[in-house]
Amino acid sequence: MENTKILTINWGKINPLKIGDYLAVGGYLALKKFVSEMKPDEAIEEIVASKLSGRGGAGYATGEKLKMVAESESHEKYFICNLDESEPGTYKDRMIADNNPQLLLEGIIIAALSIGAHKAYIYINGNYEKQKETLETARAQAHKKNFLGAGILGSAYDLDVEIFSGAGAYICGEETALINSIEGKRGEPRLRPPFPTEAGLFGKPTAVNNAETIANIPWIILNGGKKYAKIGASCSPGMKLYILGGSVKKPGVVEAPTGVTIRELVDDFGGGVTPGRDFWFAQIGGASGRLVLEKELDMPLTFSRDCQIPLGSGSILVVDKMANISDLILSWTEFFRRESCGKCVPCREGTFRLHEIALRLQDGEISERDKVAIKDILWTLESTTFCPLGRFAATAMRDAVEKLNLLDK
Ligand SMILES: Cc1cc2nc3c(=O)[nH]c(=O)nc-3n(C[C@H](O)[C@H](O)[C@H](O)COP(=O)(O)O)c2cc1C
Ligand code: SF4
Repeated sequence: MENTKILTINWGKINPLKIGDYLAVGGYLALKKFVSEMKPDEAIEEIVASKLSGRGGAGYATGEKLKMVAESESHEKYFICNLDESEPGTYKDRMIADNNPQLLLEGIIIAALSIGAHKAYIYINGNYEKQKETLETARAQAHKKNFLGAGILGSAYDLDVEIFSGAGAYICGEETALINSIEGKRGEPRLRPPFPTEAGLFGKPTAVNNAETIANIPWIILNGGKKYAKIGASCSPGMKLYILGGSVKKPGVVEAPTGVTIRELVDDFGGGVTPGRDFWFAQIGGASGRLVLEKELDMPLTFSRDCQIPLGSGSILVVDKMANISDLILSWTEFFRRESCGKCVPCREGTFRLHEIALRLQDGEISERDKVAIKDILWTLESTTFCPLGRFAATAMRDAVEKLNLLDK
């Protein structure tokens, strides 16, 4: 298995609050290379060649997104780092901010300058106060060294980075709701098109990227896109942070290539299932993720559209046979009922009704009528909601019905 470490290589080795530590391990060499040796479009071409795909869940090609914004003729453009990370069981982006905030900043600066932005935002969930403080310190230190601000490293580039705290709503991780939130509007998704790359923040072309996606950029600039494209699965290459949780011996965040199988993650990185427990299923990608059974554990995880199990945020929750499925269903449905933004009826009502049924399921009072209703509600959430959150609310319940035969009991 690939030994390259890109995101975690310096975790635990450098003091995240000291920029000198980051510089001592080669930090900001990529920015120096960008400023002194590259044109913005050359940097974007390297990212295109890397085939880096978004780590926020949808797996969109990062280079193509940056290119679209770079090619727009608008003089005002924005770059946004998405550090909302409200998906239950997912904490990889916070770990990047905790352990190597300068790596994230360096990626943000290169990406923002390459598209022609003079202002970048880090949108962080308001509950993550410690990470916000760490990032504020990192930003001030980067500013002092002239990696930020006016005339970066003696060049004609200017960039201001603002750290913006959201109120901690799951929907504000969705890029158009996030943009609304920065604009001071209600955090709910916008109709697309236009996409943010055409009309995003304040109506201007905007690239929104996940924090983990961005943290790959310095390595790509220094080592070349072609080298990155050789790591992991050829359809969506690179290194990925996986979050192992639940019934595994060694829970936590691990860095491994894309294309790794769930079994390899659980056994080789997580040390296997907790002793004395028997594997039942795993949930991949947080509360909005699919459930996989034992027979599916050898499936490679990629961001390809052909991958049957979406990798999503990269979290792997192992559930053993001692678990109470009605407790789990209650927690999924409670989460989506609370986080539905209420903009569209199918999701506002559907998540509410699914939660009511989950309460009856827990009390052992589920009726034949409920069993029919579940199927209707799932269809409604999957097929008629305004944004993907409605679909997300149905995913695990659908698999519980079809794979765990929930309604047959
Ligand atoms: C309900 C919902 C929540 C989301 N939450 C996040 C999030 O917390 N972080 C994130 O990076 N992307 C999140 N996304 C995806 C973003 O809309 C967007 O695709 C992503 O930030 C783009 O970055 P990437 O291309 O680097 O993945 C969410 C999407 C939806 C529909
Ligand atoms: S699907 Fe849910 S979260 Fe999305 S717009 Fe409709 S109510 Fe809001």
